[in-house]
Amino acid sequence: MKTPKSLEPLVHDGLVDEVLRPLKSGKEAAVYVVLSEGEIRCAKVYKEANKRGFHKQALYQEGRKVRNSRQARAMEKNTRFGRKQQEEVWQNAEVDALYRLAAAGVRVPKPYNFVEGVLLMELVTDEHGEAAPRLNDLQLTDEQALEYHSILIKEVVKMLCAGIIHGDLSEYNILIDEQGPVIIDLPQAVDAAANNNAARMLERDVNNLADYFGRFAPQLLTTRYGKEIWKLYESGNLTPDIKLTGHFKSSSKVADVKSIMREIKDAREDAIKHKYERDN
Ligand SMILES: Nc1ncnc2c1ncn2[C@@H]1O[C@H](COP(=O)(O)OP(=O)(O)OP(=O)(O)O)[C@@H](O)[C@H]1O
Ligand SMILES: [Mg+2]
Repeated sequence: MKTPKSLEPLVHDGLVDEVLRPLKSGKEAAVYVVLSEGEIRCAKVYKEANKRGFHKQALYQEGRKVRNSRQARAMEKNTRFGRKQQEEVWQNAEVDALYRLAAAGVRVPKPYNFVEGVLLMELVTDEHGEAAPRLNDLQLTDEQALEYHSILIKEVVKMLCAGIIHGDLSEYNILIDEQGPVIIDLPQAVDAAANNNAARMLERDVNNLADYFGRFAPQLLTTRYGKEIWKLYESGNLTPDIKLTGHFKSSSKVADVKSIMREIKDAREDAIKHKYERDN
């Protein structure tokens, strides 16, 4: 096909030999199948922030590392330079997460290069060498659903052990190849230790899995892996091979409301008494 403008610099630099076909154009990016270094790969071209649907970026970006204070200051201003810097941090977050997750043994596409706002990565394929289907495109038996769910919970745990929460995990951002699930689409990945919304994001990711797989295996709908995983993480006891139950006990102590009310009443009476003594 004719080379799209966004990929021209890569063709010029010899990183891409040929653009074969468009694969998908989503809200945030356009993905192409390309020939690169003699291999079939894919190229993800990010859309500019103002054309992108993903809102609430601040929620995700909290705690994200920037290169230097000049970049940090620039990002706070809504100038062209500032927006460009924001873009860079956003796009780099996906590349960064892909490298860190691959190193942690999580199944993600192998990244090859990141230039001019384009991510070159492994094309995840099915048994015919075609782009792999998304989880959402498949009909599952309850056994398959249970198996994939269990694999993905383990992947989420491995991710969190590496300090990362996906932040947009769903049946649309998981591909299925011959070996099973591969997690994709990570520009919004969250730094678990530095982000105040981390617990909420982890729980949402995990609940999305339970909701989706629960359609095929309803027993998953009552599991509470998210809270269980977060509690273990917070207490420093989460390991990649940990055995989970899917259950979570919230604090078993029932609040003793009567005695709390009594304490409040006593404190109030004390305060009134002291004020009386002071004033008289
Ligand atoms: N490495 C890959 N191998 C195979 N297919 C891929 C790969 N990366 C992305 N795709 C395909 O391209 C689609 C869009 O990619 P991705 O989810 O990363 O971008 P996006 O802009 O967030 O898309 P969307 O807005 O639809 O979620 C994916 O749903 C998937 O079908
Ligand atoms: Mg996506």
